[in-house]
Amino acid sequence: MSVSDKGLAVVTGASQGLGAAIAHELAREGFAVLLVARTAQALEGVRASVGELNGARAHVLALDLMVPDAVDQVRTTIQAIGVPLTCLVNNAGYGLYGLFDQRPMEEQLRMMRLNMDVPVILTHALLPQLKAAKRAYILNISSMTAYGSIATLATYGGSKAFVLRWSRALGVELKGTGVTVTCACPGSIITGFTERAGMLVMDDLAKKFGTGPLPVARTAVHALLKGRAEVVPGLLNRITALLQQVLPAGPVERTASGIYLKRLPAQPMKKH
Ligand SMILES: NC(=O)c1ccc[n+]([C@@H]2O[C@H](COP(=O)([O-])OP(=O)(O)OC[C@H]3O[C@@H](n4cnc5c(N)ncnc54)[C@H](OP(=O)(O)O)[C@@H]3O)[C@@H](O)[C@H]2O)c1
Repeated sequence: MSVSDKGLAVVTGASQGLGAAIAHELAREGFAVLLVARTAQALEGVRASVGELNGARAHVLALDLMVPDAVDQVRTTIQAIGVPLTCLVNNAGYGLYGLFDQRPMEEQLRMMRLNMDVPVILTHALLPQLKAAKRAYILNISSMTAYGSIATLATYGGSKAFVLRWSRALGVELKGTGVTVTCACPGSIITGFTERAGMLVMDDLAKKFGTGPLPVARTAVHALLKGRAEVVPGLLNRITALLQQVLPAGPVERTASGIYLKRLPAQPMKKH
Protein backbone atom coordinates (compact mmCIF):
# COMPACT_ATOMS: atom_id res chain seq x y z
CA MET A 1 0.00 0.00 0.00
CA SER A 2 1.31 3.40 -0.88
CA VAL A 3 -0.06 6.34 1.04
CA SER A 4 1.24 9.83 0.64
CA ASP A 5 1.70 11.64 3.94
CA LYS A 6 -0.60 14.63 4.04
CA GLY A 7 -0.13 15.40 7.73
CA LEU A 8 -2.65 14.93 10.54
CA ALA A 9 -6.42 15.35 10.30
CA VAL A 10 -8.46 15.78 13.49
CA VAL A 11 -12.04 14.54 13.05
CA THR A 12 -14.60 15.22 15.77
CA GLY A 13 -17.58 12.91 16.21
CA ALA A 14 -15.61 10.13 14.53
CA SER A 15 -16.89 7.13 16.51
CA GLN A 16 -19.75 6.48 14.06
CA GLY A 17 -21.87 7.95 11.28
CA LEU A 18 -20.58 10.71 9.03
CA GLY A 19 -17.46 11.44 11.11
CA ALA A 20 -16.26 7.83 10.88
CA ALA A 21 -16.89 7.82 7.12
CA ILE A 22 -14.97 11.10 6.68
CA ALA A 23 -12.07 9.66 8.68
CA HIS A 24 -11.93 6.68 6.30
CA GLU A 25 -11.95 8.98 3.27
CA LEU A 26 -9.17 11.16 4.69
CA ALA A 27 -7.10 8.08 5.51
CA ARG A 28 -7.56 6.89 1.91
CA GLU A 29 -6.23 10.28 0.80
CA GLY A 30 -3.07 9.84 2.86
CA PHE A 31 -3.82 11.72 6.07
CA ALA A 32 -2.91 10.42 9.51
CA VAL A 33 -6.11 10.73 11.56
CA LEU A 34 -6.99 11.62 15.14
CA LEU A 35 -10.50 10.36 15.89
CA VAL A 36 -12.31 12.24 18.67
CA ALA A 37 -15.61 11.26 20.34
CA ARG A 38 -16.83 10.12 23.74
CA THR A 39 -17.22 6.36 23.23
CA ALA A 40 -13.83 4.68 23.53
CA GLN A 41 -14.94 1.25 22.34
CA ALA A 42 -16.54 2.56 19.16
CA LEU A 43 -13.47 4.70 18.47
CA GLU A 44 -11.25 1.62 18.70
CA GLY A 45 -13.32 -0.10 16.01
CA VAL A 46 -12.98 2.91 13.71
CA ARG A 47 -9.27 3.17 14.47
CA ALA A 48 -8.73 -0.42 13.32
CA SER A 49 -10.44 0.02 9.95
CA VAL A 50 -9.03 3.51 9.31
CA GLY A 51 -5.55 2.22 10.17
CA GLU A 52 -5.84 -0.39 7.42
CA LEU A 53 -6.13 2.44 4.91
CA ASN A 54 -3.29 4.69 6.02
CA GLY A 55 -0.59 2.40 7.35
CA ALA A 56 -1.78 2.31 10.98
CA ARG A 57 -1.61 6.09 11.33
CA ALA A 58 -4.95 6.31 13.18
CA HIS A 59 -5.15 7.63 16.73
CA VAL A 60 -8.04 8.02 19.15
CA LEU A 61 -9.01 10.47 21.85
CA ALA A 62 -12.04 9.50 23.93
CA LEU A 63 -13.27 12.91 24.98
CA ASP A 64 -16.48 14.79 25.65
CA LEU A 65 -15.89 17.96 23.64
CA MET A 66 -18.14 19.85 26.07
CA VAL A 67 -15.73 19.59 29.02
CA PRO A 68 -13.90 22.84 29.83
CA ASP A 69 -10.40 21.56 29.03
CA ALA A 70 -11.39 19.76 25.79
CA VAL A 71 -9.22 21.98 23.60
CA ASP A 72 -6.17 21.44 25.82
CA GLN A 73 -6.70 17.69 25.62
CA VAL A 74 -6.90 17.82 21.82
CA ARG A 75 -3.78 20.01 21.61
CA THR A 76 -1.81 17.75 23.95
CA THR A 77 -2.79 14.67 21.95
CA ILE A 78 -1.76 16.30 18.66
CA GLN A 79 1.58 17.18 20.20
CA ALA A 80 2.08 13.62 21.44
CA ILE A 81 1.32 12.20 17.97
CA GLY A 82 4.03 14.46 16.58
CA VAL A 83 2.62 14.84 13.05
CA PRO A 84 1.97 18.37 11.74
CA LEU A 85 -1.72 19.29 11.83
CA THR A 86 -3.07 19.95 8.34
CA CYS A 87 -6.80 19.29 8.61
CA LEU A 88 -9.62 19.89 11.09
CA VAL A 89 -13.07 18.39 10.60
CA ASN A 90 -15.75 19.88 12.87
CA ASN A 91 -18.37 17.16 12.55
CA ALA A 92 -19.58 16.32 16.10
CA GLY A 93 -23.13 17.55 16.49
CA TYR A 94 -26.71 16.48 16.90
CA GLY A 95 -30.26 17.67 16.48
CA LEU A 96 -33.26 17.98 18.78
CA TYR A 97 -36.74 17.49 17.37
CA GLY A 98 -39.73 19.19 18.98
CA LEU A 99 -41.44 22.48 19.60
CA PHE A 100 -39.08 25.12 20.98
CA ASP A 101 -41.08 25.69 24.18
CA GLN A 102 -41.54 21.98 24.85
CA ARG A 103 -37.89 21.01 25.06
CA PRO A 104 -35.99 22.04 28.20
CA MET A 105 -33.86 25.15 27.70
CA GLU A 106 -30.68 23.58 29.08
CA GLU A 107 -31.02 20.66 26.66
CA GLN A 108 -31.22 23.05 23.70
CA LEU A 109 -28.34 25.16 24.99
CA ARG A 110 -26.16 22.05 25.28
CA MET A 111 -26.88 21.15 21.67
CA MET A 112 -26.18 24.72 20.56
CA ARG A 113 -22.86 24.64 22.42
CA LEU A 114 -21.74 21.42 20.72
CA ASN A 115 -22.95 22.49 17.27
CA MET A 116 -21.60 26.07 17.41
CA ASP A 117 -19.26 26.87 20.33
CA VAL A 118 -17.18 23.70 20.07
CA PRO A 119 -16.22 24.12 16.38
CA VAL A 120 -15.56 27.82 16.90
CA ILE A 121 -13.36 27.26 19.97
CA LEU A 122 -11.51 24.31 18.44
CA THR A 123 -10.86 26.15 15.19
CA HIS A 124 -9.65 29.26 17.02
CA ALA A 125 -7.26 27.17 19.11
CA LEU A 126 -5.89 25.10 16.22
CA LEU A 127 -5.67 27.79 13.54
CA PRO A 128 -2.07 28.77 14.37
CA GLN A 129 -0.97 25.17 13.74
CA LEU A 130 -3.03 24.94 10.54
CA LYS A 131 -1.59 28.22 9.27
CA ALA A 132 1.92 26.94 9.96
CA ALA A 133 1.40 24.17 7.38
CA LYS A 134 2.05 24.90 3.70
CA ARG A 135 -1.47 23.69 2.89
CA ALA A 136 -4.26 22.99 5.37
CA TYR A 137 -7.99 22.36 5.39
CA ILE A 138 -10.99 22.97 7.62
CA LEU A 139 -14.22 21.08 7.00
CA ASN A 140 -17.33 22.15 8.92
CA ILE A 141 -20.46 20.03 8.87
CA SER A 142 -23.62 22.06 8.61
CA SER A 143 -26.88 20.73 7.18
CA MET A 144 -29.50 21.49 4.54
CA THR A 145 -31.54 22.93 7.41
CA ALA A 146 -29.18 25.92 7.04
CA TYR A 147 -31.04 26.90 3.86
CA GLY A 148 -34.55 27.20 5.26
CA SER A 149 -36.26 27.35 8.63
CA ILE A 150 -38.11 24.23 9.75
CA ALA A 151 -40.55 24.23 12.66
CA THR A 152 -39.64 21.53 15.22
CA LEU A 153 -35.94 22.02 14.39
CA ALA A 154 -35.74 25.72 15.28
CA THR A 155 -32.59 25.75 17.39
CA TYR A 156 -30.89 22.93 15.45
CA GLY A 157 -31.52 24.64 12.12
CA GLY A 158 -30.37 27.93 13.59
CA SER A 159 -27.15 26.35 14.80
CA LYS A 160 -26.44 24.89 11.36
CA ALA A 161 -27.19 28.21 9.64
CA PHE A 162 -24.60 29.72 11.98
CA VAL A 163 -22.04 27.08 10.96
CA LEU A 164 -22.57 27.88 7.28
CA ARG A 165 -22.31 31.67 7.68
CA TRP A 166 -19.32 31.44 10.02
CA SER A 167 -17.52 29.00 7.68
CA ARG A 168 -17.93 31.15 4.62
CA ALA A 169 -16.74 34.31 6.38
CA LEU A 170 -13.77 32.47 7.87
CA GLY A 171 -12.87 31.16 4.42
CA VAL A 172 -12.73 34.69 3.07
CA GLU A 173 -10.60 35.85 6.02
CA LEU A 174 -8.13 33.01 5.45
CA LYS A 175 -7.69 33.59 1.73
CA GLY A 176 -3.99 33.55 0.86
CA THR A 177 -2.93 31.79 4.08
CA GLY A 178 -2.91 28.27 2.60
CA VAL A 179 -5.86 27.27 4.82
CA THR A 180 -9.18 26.71 3.05
CA VAL A 181 -12.56 26.34 4.75
CA THR A 182 -15.23 24.04 3.34
CA CYS A 183 -18.76 23.78 4.67
CA ALA A 184 -20.75 20.65 3.83
CA CYS A 185 -24.55 20.88 4.07
CA PRO A 186 -25.87 17.32 3.86
CA GLY A 187 -29.48 16.27 3.57
CA SER A 188 -30.70 13.16 5.31
CA ILE A 189 -27.97 10.64 6.18
CA ILE A 190 -28.78 7.27 7.69
CA THR A 191 -26.82 7.37 10.96
CA GLY A 192 -27.58 7.56 14.68
CA PHE A 193 -28.83 11.10 14.09
CA THR A 194 -32.62 10.56 14.09
CA GLU A 195 -32.51 8.55 17.32
CA ARG A 196 -30.25 11.07 19.07
CA ALA A 197 -32.51 13.91 17.92
CA GLY A 198 -35.57 12.15 19.34
CA MET A 199 -37.11 12.06 15.86
CA LEU A 200 -37.57 8.35 15.18
CA VAL A 201 -41.06 9.30 14.01
CA MET A 202 -39.30 10.73 10.93
CA ASP A 203 -37.05 7.70 10.45
CA ASP A 204 -39.03 6.24 7.53
CA LEU A 205 -38.65 9.50 5.56
CA ALA A 206 -34.99 9.82 6.55
CA LYS A 207 -34.38 6.30 5.21
CA LYS A 208 -36.45 6.88 2.07
CA PHE A 209 -34.69 10.09 1.07
CA GLY A 210 -31.38 9.61 2.84
CA THR A 211 -28.17 7.83 1.90
CA GLY A 212 -25.52 6.08 3.93
CA PRO A 213 -22.68 8.27 5.22
CA LEU A 214 -20.10 7.08 2.66
CA PRO A 215 -21.22 9.04 -0.44
CA VAL A 216 -21.69 12.14 1.72
CA ALA A 217 -18.19 11.75 3.16
CA ARG A 218 -16.72 11.25 -0.33
CA THR A 219 -18.33 14.41 -1.66
CA ALA A 220 -17.35 16.41 1.42
CA VAL A 221 -13.70 15.28 1.33
CA HIS A 222 -13.52 15.87 -2.43
CA ALA A 223 -14.79 19.45 -1.87
CA LEU A 224 -12.31 19.89 0.99
CA LEU A 225 -9.37 18.85 -1.17
CA LYS A 226 -10.51 21.25 -3.89
CA GLY A 227 -10.83 24.05 -1.31
CA ARG A 228 -14.48 24.66 -2.17
CA ALA A 229 -16.34 26.97 0.22
CA GLU A 230 -19.64 25.07 0.26
CA VAL A 231 -21.01 21.74 -0.87
CA VAL A 232 -24.40 20.04 -0.77
CA PRO A 233 -23.89 16.31 -1.31
CA GLY A 234 -26.37 14.63 -3.70
CA LEU A 235 -28.00 16.00 -6.85
CA LEU A 236 -31.56 16.05 -5.48
CA ASN A 237 -30.34 17.84 -2.35
CA ARG A 238 -28.44 20.39 -4.47
CA ILE A 239 -31.58 21.15 -6.48
CA THR A 240 -33.67 21.43 -3.29
CA ALA A 241 -31.13 23.74 -1.65
CA LEU A 242 -31.07 25.92 -4.74
CA LEU A 243 -34.88 26.13 -4.81
CA GLN A 244 -34.90 26.98 -1.09
CA GLN A 245 -32.70 29.96 -1.86
CA VAL A 246 -34.64 31.29 -4.84
CA LEU A 247 -38.27 30.60 -3.91
CA PRO A 248 -40.13 32.86 -1.45
CA ALA A 249 -39.22 31.78 2.10
CA GLY A 250 -42.77 31.78 3.52
CA PRO A 251 -44.35 29.03 1.39
CA VAL A 252 -41.15 26.94 1.48
CA GLU A 253 -41.02 27.18 5.29
CA ARG A 254 -44.69 26.29 5.65
CA THR A 255 -44.41 23.26 3.35
CA ALA A 256 -41.25 21.88 4.94
CA SER A 257 -42.45 22.63 8.47
CA GLY A 258 -45.79 20.93 7.78
CA ILE A 259 -44.06 17.61 7.13
CA TYR A 260 -42.27 17.76 10.49
CA LEU A 261 -45.17 19.20 12.50
CA LYS A 262 -47.52 16.48 11.28
CA ARG A 263 -45.35 13.79 12.87
CA LEU A 264 -45.02 15.48 16.27
CA PRO A 265 -46.20 13.19 19.04
CA ALA A 266 -49.19 14.61 20.91
CA GLN A 267 -47.56 14.29 24.36
CA PRO A 268 -44.73 16.58 25.53
CA MET A 269 -41.21 15.62 24.34
CA LYS A 270 -39.34 13.12 26.48
CA LYS A 271 -36.24 14.63 28.16
CA HIS A 272 -33.07 13.36 26.45
N1 LIG B 1 -27.67 12.35 9.86
C1 LIG B 1 -28.22 13.35 9.22
O1 LIG B 1 -29.32 13.25 8.64
C2 LIG B 1 -27.49 14.67 9.14
C3 LIG B 1 -27.88 15.60 8.18
C4 LIG B 1 -27.22 16.82 8.10
C5 LIG B 1 -26.17 17.09 8.96
N2 LIG B 1 -25.81 16.17 9.90
C6 LIG B 1 -24.69 16.51 10.78
O2 LIG B 1 -23.67 15.56 10.62
C7 LIG B 1 -22.86 15.51 11.82
C8 LIG B 1 -22.64 14.07 12.20
O3 LIG B 1 -23.88 13.48 12.56
P1 LIG B 1 -24.24 11.95 12.27
O4 LIG B 1 -25.41 11.95 11.39
O5 LIG B 1 -23.03 11.19 11.89
O6 LIG B 1 -24.75 11.57 13.73
P2 LIG B 1 -24.30 10.43 14.76
O7 LIG B 1 -24.28 9.11 14.08
O8 LIG B 1 -25.17 10.63 15.94
O9 LIG B 1 -22.79 10.84 15.12
C9 LIG B 1 -22.50 11.92 15.94
C10 LIG B 1 -21.05 11.83 16.40
O10 LIG B 1 -20.78 12.92 17.29
C11 LIG B 1 -20.18 12.40 18.48
N3 LIG B 1 -20.50 13.24 19.63
C12 LIG B 1 -21.74 13.57 20.10
N4 LIG B 1 -21.63 14.32 21.19
C13 LIG B 1 -20.29 14.49 21.43
C14 LIG B 1 -19.55 15.17 22.42
N5 LIG B 1 -20.14 15.85 23.42
N6 LIG B 1 -18.20 15.12 22.37
C15 LIG B 1 -17.59 14.42 21.38
N7 LIG B 1 -18.23 13.77 20.42
C16 LIG B 1 -19.57 13.80 20.43
C17 LIG B 1 -20.76 10.99 18.59
O11 LIG B 1 -19.92 10.12 19.30
P3 LIG B 1 -20.06 9.74 20.86
O12 LIG B 1 -21.51 9.55 21.14
O13 LIG B 1 -19.22 8.52 20.97
O14 LIG B 1 -19.49 10.91 21.58
C18 LIG B 1 -20.74 10.55 17.13
O15 LIG B 1 -19.46 10.09 16.78
C19 LIG B 1 -23.62 16.35 12.86
O16 LIG B 1 -23.01 17.61 12.96
C20 LIG B 1 -25.02 16.48 12.28
O17 LIG B 1 -25.67 17.63 12.70
C21 LIG B 1 -26.43 14.96 10.00
